Amino acid sequence: MADTPLLELEDVTAEYGPFRALFGVSLTIHPGDAMALLGSNGAGKTTVARVASGLVDAATGAVRVDGVTMTREPTYRFAQAGIAHAPEGRSVFATFTVEENLVLYFRRSLGRKNVPAALDEAYTLFPRLGERRRQVAGTLSGGEQRMLSLARVLVEKPRLLIADELSLGLAPIIVDEVYETLTSIRSSGAALLIVEQHVQHALELCDHVALLDHGTIAWTGPSAEAADVVVDHLFETGSSS
Ligand SMILES: Nc1ncnc2c1ncn2[C@@H]1O[C@H](COP(=O)(O)OP(=O)(O)OP(=O)(O)O)[C@@H](O)[C@H]1O
Ligand SMILES: [Mg+2]
Repeated sequence: MADTPLLELEDVTAEYGPFRALFGVSLTIHPGDAMALLGSNGAGKTTVARVASGLVDAATGAVRVDGVTMTREPTYRFAQAGIAHAPEGRSVFATFTVEENLVLYFRRSLGRKNVPAALDEAYTLFPRLGERRRQVAGTLSGGEQRMLSLARVLVEKPRLLIADELSLGLAPIIVDEVYETLTSIRSSGAALLIVEQHVQHALELCDHVALLDHGTIAWTGPSAEAADVVVDHLFETGSSS
């Protein structure tokens, strides 16, 4: 069906041991949608991103991909359905070179014969990585490590890219590059779920906003209407993340 959502969270709760992080979160992403997930530190953004990519199980409620229930399915099933997750923080193998990191990842996700083309594409997206292909990833700068994590998921051409604080720790000029890349991914038809501390960037890129507060959706609506609501909220809750 043309209007089947790509991703649907319905009344999802999530827990870390005895601690409940999400309380009845519902959100819907259609093919090609770009949603910004905003909220202060600890609001539950990363948890929503993890539930949406199968890394954290919903304790109750439902997660559906293309209308198919995926609640508590393993992460690889989400990946097979075209959902890629660029996690928060650094997520590279520190003792392997840039190229070894990419080869390892592409071999698994795209198959051995597609590795050379995928490497070319990664180095085209981020020439800096090409220049440093023989460098051990652990010695890359923080920003370069983010590029490496990002290159891996972008080359896969996900149907839905879930990106958690992609620009954290990146120099403004690199943040701009990352956002140009995201914009081109969007225009190629992929959907985005973006957790971002640069509210302005997120609002420019995304057409929908979901504002999280203490594990619940406090507001959801079009980006055009979000600026005041979001800024007021983040001001009141005392942090902007
Ligand atoms: N592994 C964990 N074990 C226990 N509690 C956790 C775990 N991960 C997250 N939490 C808690 O769940 C709540 C939501 O965390 P989450 O990481 O989703 O927030 P966030 O909105 O991404 O915050 P930030 O902006 O700081 O990244 C927080 O109170 C956090 O302490
Ligand atoms: Mg987070």
